[in-house]
Amino acid sequence: MDLYQIVQFNIPTTIRFGCGAVKELPAYLQSNGLQRPLVVTDPIIAQLPFFKEIIDDLQSRGMSVEVFCDTHKNPVKSDVYKGTEVWDNTNRDSIIGIGGGAALDIARAITLRVNHREDLFKYDDLIGGDIYVTNEVPHFITIPTTAGTGSEVGRSAIIADDETHQKRILFSPKLMAKVVFADPLLTMGLPPAVTAATGMDALTHNMEAFLAKNYNPICDGIALEGMRLIAQSLEDAVLRPDEASRSKMLLASMMGAIAFQKGLGVVHSLAHPLSSLLDTHHGLANAVNLPYGLAFNVDGHEERFVRMAHSLGLAEASGEAVIRYVVGLNERIGIPYRLRDIGVKEEHLDTLADLAEADFAHPNNPKPVSRDDFRKLYQKAL
Ligand SMILES: [Fe+2]
Repeated sequence: MDLYQIVQFNIPTTIRFGCGAVKELPAYLQSNGLQRPLVVTDPIIAQLPFFKEIIDDLQSRGMSVEVFCDTHKNPVKSDVYKGTEVWDNTNRDSIIGIGGGAALDIARAITLRVNHREDLFKYDDLIGGDIYVTNEVPHFITIPTTAGTGSEVGRSAIIADDETHQKRILFSPKLMAKVVFADPLLTMGLPPAVTAATGMDALTHNMEAFLAKNYNPICDGIALEGMRLIAQSLEDAVLRPDEASRSKMLLASMMGAIAFQKGLGVVHSLAHPLSSLLDTHHGLANAVNLPYGLAFNVDGHEERFVRMAHSLGLAEASGEAVIRYVVGLNERIGIPYRLRDIGVKEEHLDTLADLAEADFAHPNNPKPVSRDDFRKLYQKAL
């Protein structure tokens, strides 16, 4: 580490965390002079009792609430445009995203679009579009309902093109929520398979952030504690959920997302192509690839793996032990060991390897990953 190189750390989001935290929402809006929120969610959550309760709570205090839930499972540009139309036509003063990663991404992209009306993808961070995010944005609040992506504390939204399905990244520190209401009770009803897949996404964030090559000891500390919480709670959250396990997982998912401002790595680059090519759930794709990606990274980074093993509470502190732990955890929470068990076939491997090489996550992996490496990793996992 060059001590004269100036680096930047950002850990600024206000998080109101705890069982029942969402009950604070109406008072928060009132104290900020907000009366007319646009609530963005997905069509499934819009039907759930807790969602209706949140809306009733706001309306009973005389607030005007407009709900936008006409969205796709994987967010596309037209979702964002439709939601912005609702904003335009209904005189709103704030935006509340309620849901998992997809709903929060759409809410965040609408927050951007309200005062930035060029083509949405002009703001794509990967082509330097973040410099055009210059105007103010509406007051933005997030309320997570899964413990996985940690999008509630993020500052970017992944939105795909409707036709080409190419994923674009909208990014700006302005897109961070002003406040997060993180209420574990909202995650109590998540089905086991979703809990397992999203939970493994959170574990992958913490592990990849800790291994990422950039210098960020603040994120390293957060990631290690995130792993410890997941080791204590993911199995319970899947198999016998209670307030304690749901609380730890919700915390750990936010910690993973805070930590991965440091960077991600080979596992996310292996996972992203599965979602774009085969529509695989993001968390599931990470979960299956995680042991193989970790094995790729052990050589030369043994000390990092020893520290991860300590956080996970393993009896043996080594890379091998960490990998064995992940394989065992996957097995216990019902996640398959092989890519072939989640629909990947030999004929997909070349396209997957091309897409993985082009992915944005692996440049921060602790060691370089070539197309050939990706091809071999897929082959091994098949
Ligand atoms: Fe992820």
